[in-house]
Amino acid sequence: MNSLTPNSLHARDIAAVLHPQTHARRHLQDGPTIMTHGQGVFIHDDAGNAFLDAGAGLWCASLGYANERLARTAYEAMRTLGYYQLFRHASHPAAIELSEKLLSIAPVPMSKVLLQCSGSEANDTALKLVWYHWNARGQPQRRKVISRLGSYHGSTCATISLTGKPDYHAGFGLPFEGFRYVDCPNHYRAAEPGESEEAFSARMAAQLEALILAEGPETVAAFWADPVQGGAGGLPPPRGYFERVQEVLRRHGVLFVADEVICGFGRTGAMWGCETYAITPDILCCAKALSAAMQPISAVLINEEIFQSLLTQSDRLGAFIHGFTYAGHPVCSAVALETLRIYEEMDLIGHVREVEPVFLRELGALQDHPMIGHFNGCGLIGGMEMVRDKDTRADWPAEAKLGARLDEAARRNGLILRIVGNRIAFSPPLIITAAEIQDLAGRLRRSLDEVHAELVAL
Ligand SMILES: Cc1ncc(COP(=O)(O)O)c(C=O)c1O
Repeated sequence: MNSLTPNSLHARDIAAVLHPQTHARRHLQDGPTIMTHGQGVFIHDDAGNAFLDAGAGLWCASLGYANERLARTAYEAMRTLGYYQLFRHASHPAAIELSEKLLSIAPVPMSKVLLQCSGSEANDTALKLVWYHWNARGQPQRRKVISRLGSYHGSTCATISLTGKPDYHAGFGLPFEGFRYVDCPNHYRAAEPGESEEAFSARMAAQLEALILAEGPETVAAFWADPVQGGAGGLPPPRGYFERVQEVLRRHGVLFVADEVICGFGRTGAMWGCETYAITPDILCCAKALSAAMQPISAVLINEEIFQSLLTQSDRLGAFIHGFTYAGHPVCSAVALETLRIYEEMDLIGHVREVEPVFLRELGALQDHPMIGHFNGCGLIGGMEMVRDKDTRADWPAEAKLGARLDEAARRNGLILRIVGNRIAFSPPLIITAAEIQDLAGRLRRSLDEVHAELVAL
């Protein structure tokens, strides 16, 4: 079935659905891939194809695509208390238990939890809290926020401004004023010849410090970073990066907001990316694997200092005036709580650590392929650099349409890839087995071989 069949789902999709992150005009012709069901790490379309999903949807389907226990949890929650809100002192057991649980597993002592509905909402709320905090502290001029080129932090007006991707700003008249960006710490692409990872990290931190000094430290509110940079294509930080960066932030009293939206809950082989990279955030945002992506829920964890500022503001202003109708939704909260129980019972982090060497070895072995310049990762997240020439690290020209070709070849081989520019990002469901990782690498090698043959024949 395709878009030419009248009244097919394909035709109806084209007629009715506007797709995010999709070429609107091309969709009119190409139509959708319609997914019908999933099991484990495989997702199935309506044409009967099964795809191994190397990206867990959008870095999120940690337990794969179906889960009976979470389905029952949602069902029971809907039968008992299908909705209530947390406004004006109201609460419910699932929100309380989930908040306690998050505080108990936080990477650094945290004081309170604000439950939200998405990663974007979490980062957007955290940004408001940063500004609220500095206002409470009598430093309202601390408004500017620094993030990294290549980072993605969400799609609201403010979080897309935090996002260091000019192509995501284009056409919207964004970013807002007051957002600044430092370079993406991609050692493979941006290091000087012979520069060690440590020296590169020191240079990146020096660039951050120079920016803070140029802006005026008294105007800089916060630095925003995801421990492994998802938007830059699953890019782990170079050695020493966050140590150096945090020294700079401490020197200038700038807050660190950790975006754990993709790294949280085991992705890096620890509960948090902050643990993996010794980050001590003032605010932590998490989402996605919090509910195994089966319900839209996120959370902002704040430390005691930020909470004290909120108390001050409530005294001054009458209340903490912020909130979303569905924030802390009882069904989502119940599913998130059950998800965290499942993770503990199955020792998900232990599993990630166990398969990590297979993940690094199998994907690392693809560096022998003529198109792959570099791979690195940690836990079950990582990225691969595609190059035309391994010695010069030159890229394929845009006319080669590398991304589209590889995406197509991968799908022919039953594999869904996340391609970000010249990088392939990997974040498979956290339940992936060693054999499935080998399967993934085999499908990828076949896809790369096919694309390479096409490109050299051009
Ligand atoms: C690091 C990071 N932060 C924030 C977001 C935004 O999350 P959401 O799409 O749930 O709004 C994403 C989404 O991919 C992300 O990768």
